[in-house]
Amino acid sequence: MSFTVLIVDDEENARKNLSVFLRSKNFEVFEAGTLAEARQQLKIGNGDIVLLDVQLPDGYGQTLLKELQQQPNRPPVILITGFGDIEMAVDAMRNGAHDFLTKPINDIKVVENSVARACEIIQMRREIEHYRQKQLDSVDFVLGSNEKMKNVVAQALKASRAMVSVLITGETGTGKEILARFIHKSGPRAAKQFVAINCAAIQPTLLESELFGHEPEGFTDAKTRKHGLMEIADDGILFLDEISSMPLEMQAKLLRAIEEKAFRRVGGNDLVKVDVQILAASNRNLKELIKENAFREDLYYRLKVVDLDLPPLRERKNDIPEFVGFFIKELNPRLGLNVIDMTPVAMEILKKYSWPGNIRELRNTIERAMLFCDGEKIDVADLPLDLVEKLA
Ligand SMILES: Nc1ncnc2c1ncn2[C@@H]1O[C@H](COP(=O)(O)OP(=O)(O)OP(=O)(O)O)[C@@H](O)[C@H]1O
Ligand SMILES: [Mg+2]
Repeated sequence: MSFTVLIVDDEENARKNLSVFLRSKNFEVFEAGTLAEARQQLKIGNGDIVLLDVQLPDGYGQTLLKELQQQPNRPPVILITGFGDIEMAVDAMRNGAHDFLTKPINDIKVVENSVARACEIIQMRREIEHYRQKQLDSVDFVLGSNEKMKNVVAQALKASRAMVSVLITGETGTGKEILARFIHKSGPRAAKQFVAINCAAIQPTLLESELFGHEPEGFTDAKTRKHGLMEIADDGILFLDEISSMPLEMQAKLLRAIEEKAFRRVGGNDLVKVDVQILAASNRNLKELIKENAFREDLYYRLKVVDLDLPPLRERKNDIPEFVGFFIKELNPRLGLNVIDMTPVAMEILKKYSWPGNIRELRNTIERAMLFCDGEKIDVADLPLDLVEKLA
């Protein structure tokens, strides 16, 4: 990932020195001699990071700093103040500056460090944005009338309020992920990150750096430091999906990170402290895996401060009509349809089926039926033939 730096200073020499140095560090550098020029550059996206002098021909740097604070993607601003002007520096930091440097800049290393930290901030923001985009779909939830399910939801609410670790188990498609998101949305961390990782989808050798991040080979080029999901989820929630796929060695490292609330990035020495609520899910029986020495018992107990076991759909068939109504409503706008309901005969067929794929299978069945449906009501003819035949 490469970043652009905008240097705003009316002294051409000062600008040149900084820009030569930053270019040698592989930054793309833009220059501005006035606030007006700086605004122009920022408008066209030239300035992930801004080095900003205070005294400019058309005003003070602080004015631009304040303007930038209003923007959603505000670039980190490093203010360049006069020597000894501590008050101004403090003031700038209060107004959202990332850092300040004092003139004259004799030690270029100071600039390098400050810019490197700014890079980290931007990268972290980008990564967070990336995950937010992926998880935008809001949580809507069918509660239903099944006693076991109601109990699960009540427990989930308690765990959510207490911000403790939760282990969610259940067959495939029973709604483990949707329950995890529900816990997030209903707890004190709702406005914080919900970061999900599917342990089965990531190569075991990459899992550690995915979770904990890694340091660059040398420390000169901060641009290649990668933040792990554990760090991105700081203050929020980390959802470890398919936790049973996590290699034993990694389980040990995870346990340690949870217990110490800290970890080291791959290749790094510094302890990174985090406050993360862990939710884990599995559709395999972890107790069985413990017996086979494929899952650590200590980690198991650490994860299941609260454990929530989702019932399969076949045990809550009375909820099927509510699910059907929910999915029809949810899918109509997406499919550009106006289906209203399902005929009682068709509903009976759904209630007789055993649903090995649980709620996911039901949702897929409804989606398909809606596409086949000519009228306003889904009928038997719209249901998959094998499902109807099996029950005939
Ligand atoms: N209570 C619910 N209300 C509405 N939709 C639900 C509910 N539970 C599950 N679903 C839907 O069913 C599908 C499967 O849910 P989810 O992905 O949470 O299951 P899962 O248990 O994580 O499955 P897997 O083990 O295969 O990962 C999703 O489309 C989800 O929207
Ligand atoms: Mg899942």
